[in-house]
Amino acid sequence: MSGAEDRPTGQLTEAEAVAEWADLAQAVLAANTAYHRDDAPVLTDADYDRMKQRMVALEAAFPGIEAALAGPSPTALVGGPVAEGFRKITHRVAMLSLENAFDAEDVADFADRIRRFLNHAEALTFTAEPKIDGLSLSLRYVNGVLHYAATRGDGMVGEDVTANARTIADIPETLTGAPEVLEVRGEVYMSHPDFAALNERAATAGTRTFANPRNAAAGSLRQLDARITASRPLRFFAYAWGEVSAPLAPTQFQSIRRLADLGFQTNPHTVLCDGPEAMLTHYRLIERERATLGYDIDGVVYKVDDLGLQARLGYRSNTPRWAIAHKFPAELAWTELLGIDIQVGRTGALSPVARLKPVTVGGVVVQNATLHNEDYIAGRDSRGQMIRGGKDIRVGDWVQVYRAGDVIPKVADVDLTRRKPGSQPYAFPTECPDCGSHATREEGDSVRRCTGGLICPAQAVERLKHFVSRAAFDIEGLGAKQVEYFFADPTLPVRTPAEIFTLADRDAANPLQKLKHRDGFGEVSVTKLFAAIKAKRTIPLDRLIFALGIRHIGETSSGLLARHYGTWEAFIAAIDEAKDQSGPAWEELRATDGIGAVSARALVEALHPDSAERAEVDRLVSLLSIQPVAAARSDSPVAGKTVVFTGTLEKMTRAEAKARAEALGAKVAGSVSAKTDLVIAGPGAGSKIREATRLGVEVIDEDAWLRLIGA
Ligand code: IVH
Repeated sequence: MSGAEDRPTGQLTEAEAVAEWADLAQAVLAANTAYHRDDAPVLTDADYDRMKQRMVALEAAFPGIEAALAGPSPTALVGGPVAEGFRKITHRVAMLSLENAFDAEDVADFADRIRRFLNHAEALTFTAEPKIDGLSLSLRYVNGVLHYAATRGDGMVGEDVTANARTIADIPETLTGAPEVLEVRGEVYMSHPDFAALNERAATAGTRTFANPRNAAAGSLRQLDARITASRPLRFFAYAWGEVSAPLAPTQFQSIRRLADLGFQTNPHTVLCDGPEAMLTHYRLIERERATLGYDIDGVVYKVDDLGLQARLGYRSNTPRWAIAHKFPAELAWTELLGIDIQVGRTGALSPVARLKPVTVGGVVVQNATLHNEDYIAGRDSRGQMIRGGKDIRVGDWVQVYRAGDVIPKVADVDLTRRKPGSQPYAFPTECPDCGSHATREEGDSVRRCTGGLICPAQAVERLKHFVSRAAFDIEGLGAKQVEYFFADPTLPVRTPAEIFTLADRDAANPLQKLKHRDGFGEVSVTKLFAAIKAKRTIPLDRLIFALGIRHIGETSSGLLARHYGTWEAFIAAIDEAKDQSGPAWEELRATDGIGAVSARALVEALHPDSAERAEVDRLVSLLSIQPVAAARSDSPVAGKTVVFTGTLEKMTRAEAKARAEALGAKVAGSVSAKTDLVIAGPGAGSKIREATRLGVEVIDEDAWLRLIGA
């Protein structure tokens, strides 16, 4: 195909060059699939490279060649991982989002609006299909060959994830009988069993686990190294299209069927409806089946079936007029409360956890749910007012379990008609179930706390877990499981943060011997762990303050304190000076923007020079090199503004966005209120946008934000 028989490019006509180039492209793409997805190379490296070189030579001799095929060359797309982030791809047809409907009235309004817009008297036909909770992807095929795959990005410009998309079995490399140009759009997602298995593997390996299948799918697709994507079980449903050189069919329904004929997976729960009533019937059917589908969905999408009418209806700035997403409400289910366990948190809080007879809620099997605190179980809120009509919750009761999105399941209600005779109100323990210390409630606090402090093993383990968590020291290979393991280990225990950093030295007397033959630890993993620990001896001040796990001092306060005091020395000197909760240092601490008296008190109490806890902290600090944090800028366009991030951010993680905003002097809040200056909304944002609109707060997308901060 290439090599000795290559004709000099100067002797080729343009048509011959295009034909040869297209053949080579197809072969290179097929070789990529065989290599990345199937782990079964079909070409030697030398042949593969020669073919790509020939393509490059053809491209150089015929500069129009790529335009002739309407898209960038696979020579640019294939090959190793892109060094710095992903290449950008401008969508030829924007990738839009959908307007949301929350109830039957919204759906009826949608149908009415369309009828009025079209001045259409007769009934309209709609498709109804599940709204897949994954991330959207655009696949461009030219002459039946996958040309590129791009994420949605901001809807106009996405990221080139071609190499990654090729590893997904549901995405065909080539199509037979497709229009010359065809952009297939759909959702990349991960099934429930694949998600569970992936997290299980990650937990065992001590690496990051994902909060839900959507995050897992997004994290897996947006990997710079396609081999990682290849190891993750992603799937793809096709449900729409972008640019097409010839229509697929006259209707939405038939177009989707055509995509299925071309080899795409399409959702089997897609039906035609003759109006709102039929749409709602299908919605209820899908809602009932939601738990057994095996993947996450978050609603039902309705689309006008006739593509001629779709074209007349057109688009608003960001959403089509011809489609709407009818979202599911939070999921509910009833089950039996088998028992109540008390978990002790890092600050000693006793948290009641419901042990439930397993029940499927929103597609996930739930066996545990939070019961919040002792008042909640007794049927009171934090001010002593009745909740649930004053009904208490007892072991053996039938309870309603509630789950909304990523949120931890909650016990919401209790069915008194099914209460067992002779049942007793739940007696909340007044002693710590772990260390036996007295558990007390402070005035005005709804939480009962173990007073054992450092002597309570449960608190100590939880503090360690917090210490190594992602926003704190984030030590690779030292997750919650490993912390429990080391904590309980009699030969080489890790019971305090400082002991993490002395682990290697303590092991050094008999290098690696003590650790390496234990469950799950080989020489390589021990060496890696020591290296990961060593790397974190250097730590930014804000992370250190957060890692200490002091009550009321979360990530935000830690960042504020770090930016205010700059260095550990300045910070701890100020805390020492403020220890009696009076004087200028105390006033300064209390007046630090965003800190307040409660947090200030918690800090000076926890870090009091006479406390055992402080001795621990000093020991830890002596083992670290603490990086100072620069003061927040006051000259940026967002300095002093309160901003809220909502929806999925696509250019950076939430943590990163927050850190950058704070470094520019902005305050990052979790919810929208009258004090909010700006909401930055990514795809999937919902109620916060509505709240912002209601309050007249400006809403911008991620790109506009990046422009604003000059990134
Ligand atoms: S249609 C022009 N159909 O929902 C409209 N979208 O909230 C194209 N989604 O960005 C989208 N399932 O990522 C459509 N069956 C479905 C869908 C679906 C999930 C996602 C898609 C879109 C988002 C809008």
